[in-house]
Amino acid sequence: AIDPNFEQSREQVGEENGVTVWGPVDPPEQLGIHGTHVAVDYDICIADGVCLENCPVDVFTWVDTPDHPESDRKVEPTREDQCIDCMLCVDVCPVDAIDVDAS
Ligand code: SF4
Ligand code: F3S
Repeated sequence: AIDPNFEQSREQVGEENGVTVWGPVDPPEQLGIHGTHVAVDYDICIADGVCLENCPVDVFTWVDTPDHPESDRKVEPTREDQCIDCMLCVDVCPVDAIDVDAS
């Protein structure tokens, strides 16, 4: 599962699609955590898609991640500023790849 304390345990290494990336990153195998308020661990995500399909405010966008061992696409939280903290995505992801900081 995603480490909910990633803001302490990891460092920001850059930005992709307007979203902060938390390392370590070593593409294509290791892609880090994408997002801060809505955070997706790209190294855990298997592209199930139930988060993107059910988010009431369309926070997520598909991005291609060719040659990543878990899946060749991931969800980018491109509109994390729109998140209403419903926690649906956190609850439905089958591999617990998402953390939402609702505090
Ligand atoms: Fe969307 Fe709710 Fe997840 Fe926020 S917590 S990203 S609103 S599903
Ligand atoms: Fe990935 Fe979980 Fe969404 S596997 S696509 S973060 S439901």
